Amino acid sequence: MIQLATRVKQVTPSLTLAITAKAKEMKSQGIDVCSFSSGEPDFDTPQHIKEAASSALAQGKTKYGPVAGEPGLRQAIAHKLNNDNRLNYSAENIIVTNGGKHSLFNLMLALIDKGDEVIIPAPYWLSYPEMVKLAEGNPIIVNTTAETDYKITPEQLRQAITKKTKLFVLNSPSNPTGTVYQPEEIKALAQVIVDHNLWVVSDEIYEKILYDGTEHISIGSLGEEIFKRTIISNGFAKSYAMTGWRIGYLAGPQELIKATSTIQSHSTSNVCTFAQYGAIAALENPESSPCLQTMLDAFTQRRQAILDRIRAITQLSCPTPMGAFYVFMDISQTGLNSLEFCDGLLEKQQVAAIPGKAFGADNCIRLSYATDLASIEKGMDRIERFVNTL
Ligand SMILES: Cc1ncc(COP(=O)(O)O)c(C=O)c1O
Repeated sequence: MIQLATRVKQVTPSLTLAITAKAKEMKSQGIDVCSFSSGEPDFDTPQHIKEAASSALAQGKTKYGPVAGEPGLRQAIAHKLNNDNRLNYSAENIIVTNGGKHSLFNLMLALIDKGDEVIIPAPYWLSYPEMVKLAEGNPIIVNTTAETDYKITPEQLRQAITKKTKLFVLNSPSNPTGTVYQPEEIKALAQVIVDHNLWVVSDEIYEKILYDGTEHISIGSLGEEIFKRTIISNGFAKSYAMTGWRIGYLAGPQELIKATSTIQSHSTSNVCTFAQYGAIAALENPESSPCLQTMLDAFTQRRQAILDRIRAITQLSCPTPMGAFYVFMDISQTGLNSLEFCDGLLEKQQVAAIPGKAFGADNCIRLSYATDLASIEKGMDRIERFVNTL
């Protein structure tokens, strides 16, 4: 047996990727699987973005580039953060990374020392605690419930803070719950962060996927004091249907961004050079807005369809998600835990969903509605049948 490093033994492999792989394998065997497991838009990357990358490739943008990103892209990101999010950053405050996941991983390595505590509200995106552990920090999980719309309260945050607390992780809109914090709720959390001189990382990867006129507020825009303590993580995967491109970014104080750049210089170096030109087009080309709107219109319709079906099944419930493309459904009235529910559902009805246990909530499962309406209806028919036969 190989004597692996201790850090690997502490980390749980991604359950989302495991279930998605199992569903794919069943599909390849000819089994008719309905998948609610996907964490990516089922749309293709808009044509103008593809063309910008193709043209950069044709022009020979195929060499190593600056570690922190192509200057034009860092500039375009800074411009976007100023315009969309009221965050006063310049290009030097930005590092371009291999996706939002890599941004967060870089950040944990640059900021977290052995024993530092990182406060993470549950349900959480499953990689946060594992990244903290890989950086030798301690994830401190604070449970939230459907009654508070899965939002951490300022009081809960205050109570979780100790002398070792270094960072608070905020994710709005949230994966897996779709929760979006209101401006006054973010303001109250910001006050606690400033009072205790903590850092906050705001993962804003779903910022553009919002419903019913809901607004996204970036915590760093709420004043000079909170701005100094804020790091923004974002990327192109969800808003521009660019999951496979692997482009994300981190924005924050220059000293911290330089530190992440040093780490990146010894790990992945720069992000694929020609791909970064596609990202510039995503931010600068006016055609991006109608493409986003097309996705949003589809998600809005599907969200309503899936909510109508869930609410017609008495043993299931969920709050109305105001952002992202997930519903986080309480299954506790079925008497099953989330692994039993998802295993049974896949085995008996060939429906793939993600157990809430992966997100720190074993009484729920996550359904992604980034799939067509017909599949949603068919999948929900099967879920209804599964629940009725329990
Ligand atoms: C909340 C959240 N943050 C970050 C990411 C990372 O996205 P990517 O690495 O594809 O840019 C994801 C992807 O699913 C996510 O759901």
